[in-house]
Amino acid sequence: MKRPIIAGNWKMNNNKEGTKKLIAEIAPLVKDAECEVVVCVPFTDLETARKAARGTNIQLGAQNVHWAEKGAFTGEISADMLAEMKVKYVIVGHSERRQYFGETDATVNMRTKAALKAGLKVILCVGELLSERESKKTAEVVTRQTTEALKDITKQELKKIVLAYEPVWAIGTGRTATSQDANDTIKVIRKVVRKLFGRAAAQSVRIQYGGSMNAKNAKELMAMPQIDGGLIGGASLKAEDFAKVVNFNA
Ligand code: PGA
Repeated sequence: MKRPIIAGNWKMNNNKEGTKKLIAEIAPLVKDAECEVVVCVPFTDLETARKAARGTNIQLGAQNVHWAEKGAFTGEISADMLAEMKVKYVIVGHSERRQYFGETDATVNMRTKAALKAGLKVILCVGELLSERESKKTAEVVTRQTTEALKDITKQELKKIVLAYEPVWAIGTGRTATSQDANDTIKVIRKVVRKLFGRAAAQSVRIQYGGSMNAKNAKELMAMPQIDGGLIGGASLKAEDFAKVVNFNA
């Protein structure tokens, strides 16, 4: 049995005070969760979040990582720096990074490898744009993104990777993919993993859905056979909403 994983992606929200408060509110609500619980906070909140989550089942995540170990990369953060902050997971290739910050399939791959090398686990995001969905390119896009992102990754390393399927048109829009659509596309992604790593790896890799997942639709999405978790943006900023997603089975 795969353990589901629900991760909050706070994006550029919350200061130190807000971080402390939100984690203190979430912790008691998710303490009996059957799934893994992660919150991915801004870099500047990592230390506060680490302290606030100490002794709880909430794991610490970051939202991006640079591919180089160190050097002249103004404004960037290395994987070792994150590991030193006790970060367990890092999101790589989020569509907002691809859209606004020039992230490419190649840099997603480089960042993934750097994170793994530093001992971090990776939440690796793929997903199509609305125009790509409308022109029936969804399968082609997620196949390319997944293949490129996992280039030169070993079977052993894959165990440290959680994939996240996030259709870009469903992020922050209130428009969720139907559970059937999400399931179908995740099936395509799993097929890619199977081609690259074999049947057992494809079966055991966890693939999340993300995009307007919330307290109301989590149960239905999580009931789909291909969906092993969620990456939650907006609904992760309110303790009760996030806890309801985490406790989707309750
Ligand atoms: P959303 O964001 O839940 O606000 O749609 C999800 C994400 O971007 O990871």
